[in-house]
Order: sequence, then structure tokens, then C-alpha cells
Amino acid sequence: MKKIPPIKKAVFPVAGLGTRFLPATKAQPKEMMPVVDKPLIQYAVEEAYEAGIRHMIFVTGRNKRAIEDHFDTAYELETELEAGNKQELLALVRGLQPEDMHCSFVRQPRSLGLGHAVLCAQPLVGDEPFAVLLADDLMAAPEGGPGVMTQMVDIFAGQGTSLLAVQEVPLEQVRRYGIVAGHALDARTLKVERMVEKPTPQAAPSRMGVAGRYILTPAVFDSIRRQSRGEGGEIQLTDGIAGLIATEGVHAYLYAGKRYDCGSKEGFLEATVEFALKHPEVGASFRAYLNSLAR
Ligand code: UTP
Repeated sequence: MKKIPPIKKAVFPVAGLGTRFLPATKAQPKEMMPVVDKPLIQYAVEEAYEAGIRHMIFVTGRNKRAIEDHFDTAYELETELEAGNKQELLALVRGLQPEDMHCSFVRQPRSLGLGHAVLCAQPLVGDEPFAVLLADDLMAAPEGGPGVMTQMVDIFAGQGTSLLAVQEVPLEQVRRYGIVAGHALDARTLKVERMVEKPTPQAAPSRMGVAGRYILTPAVFDSIRRQSRGEGGEIQLTDGIAGLIATEGVHAYLYAGKRYDCGSKEGFLEATVEFALKHPEVGASFRAYLNSLAR
């Protein structure tokens, strides 16, 4: 039997233009926007780290500085916090980059689409399966349970084929997603037979929408290269993955947890409210504040 390699690397495409969030994203990537006190990218990196992944690869664009700095040592800040004996804050800042975590950065020269962003990471990924996390999809783990990437790494360890996180979406929203259809292997996994990027409700083969978490085999790189420009003239990741259905096979996984679409204003606000309500420091007072508004 073929040995299934472990997932050691995660790719974070952070080079999109973030036009839905202008002007906030004019000079900073949208993945640096904070939900309560943590930038979106940090939630995604922590999710990957929890899944046992230690090499984080960021595909950055023109506004890369903030993300590089966020995961780098901040000598001045640390010296100030140390001098002021602010141990808790110091631990918080140092905890951002655990010693066994390695970060690499690669540039996507132009926003040519998510598939193209993933291709830019190929020299760093090499010939092994890898995770892709879109940080603007903020994933909350189920209460007391493992994060979504941890769930996916477990499933991949049993199958070894590319795996997509999916959720059921309302019919009127299918055109915002890559939609998959196939046959169910159990309550949560599906063998994918078809994949369509952003279909109309009439053309959608199902209501299973792909969320921003993937585990991909390295064959996806050649498959992306073989595709012509897809929806909106961009090099689509969905098309590259669809190219693997007939060769290696692709699975979809109905994850446990909740996704917040933080690339949209509504999703970002929902995440902010729900994460604030659960926050150990501000949760109780924020709840009281919301209640006072409702009166
Ligand atoms: P989106 O489809 O949300 O596009 O990208 P966008 O450009 O970031 O945002 P809008 O639609 O203009 O508001 C999904 C993910 O893919 C990355 C984005 O950074 C985001 O994490 N991406 C997209 C790239 O890294 N490069 C690209 O060329 C396109």
C-alpha cells in the first residue's frame, strides 16, 4: 500500500486586492484586519499549527510588509515590554512565532487569481502534499473540538487524495462559491465527480460550496498550468483541482465548525460580534453593551 506523507507545509495566499473592503485594504492586506485583537492571518496560522503544520508559506502581494513584520521578532517592542515588566504582553508577542515554526514568503507579482497564487508557492512546497488556508475565511472550531484543518489532516491521512472543505450553502448564494457534486462515502465525506466555479443557481450541480481550506497533492501544480483562464479572466484554483478528479481523485469534507466570510463586510461584522462575545477579557461587558442597545 502507498504510504501517505504527512502535511508539513501550509500555503496562505494573501495577495488578493481585497476590493470589497476598500478603503481599509488600500495600504494593508485584508488578512491583517483584526477580529477583536488578532489579525485574520493569525487565526489561520494558529489553525494550521494546531494541525501539526510547522512550515508556513505566505504568498504576498504589493502590501507584504505588515504580514512579514507580524510574524517576525519585534526587538524594540519586546525591549520596551521587558523594561516595563509587562510579562503577559511579552509572552503574547513572542508566542506569535513558536521556535519550531518556520515562515517563508514568496511574491505574487500580479493578482492573477488564486490558482496563480498557489503556483507561486510551488518552489517552496516541492513534491509533497500541502494545505492551503484562505485567511479571510475565518473558521471557528466546534465547541471543545479540533479545528477544521486538524479534522482535514486526519481525513487526508486515511485517503491521500486532495481534500476540499465544503459546507451546504443556500441556493441563492451558490454563485459565490466553487460548487462540488459527487457521491457520499459517509455522513461527512464525498467523492467528488464534478466541480464548477461560481455557477448560477440553475447550473449548480449541488449546494455543496467549497470553503477556504484545502489539502492538495503536488499534482495540482501541473493541473493548474494546463487550465486556460477561467471565471473573470483569473487562473482559478477550482479548475486546477477539477483537473485531478479524473486522474488521482478528489474528496470533499463537510467540516464541523463555523465559517465566517471575512472577505465581506457582513461576515466580518458577524465574526467580530461573535468572537467579542466569547472573548475572556471583553466578552461579559460587550454582551451587557449589546443588551443595552436592544432595550
Ligand atoms: P478573493 O476571491 O476574496 O479576492 O480571494 P480578493 O482580491 O482578495 O478580494 P475582493 O474580492 O477583491 O474583495 C480569495 C483569497 O485568495 C487570495 C486572497 O488574498 C484571498 O485570501 N488571492 C486572490 C491571492 O492571493 N491572489 C490573487 O490573485 C487572488
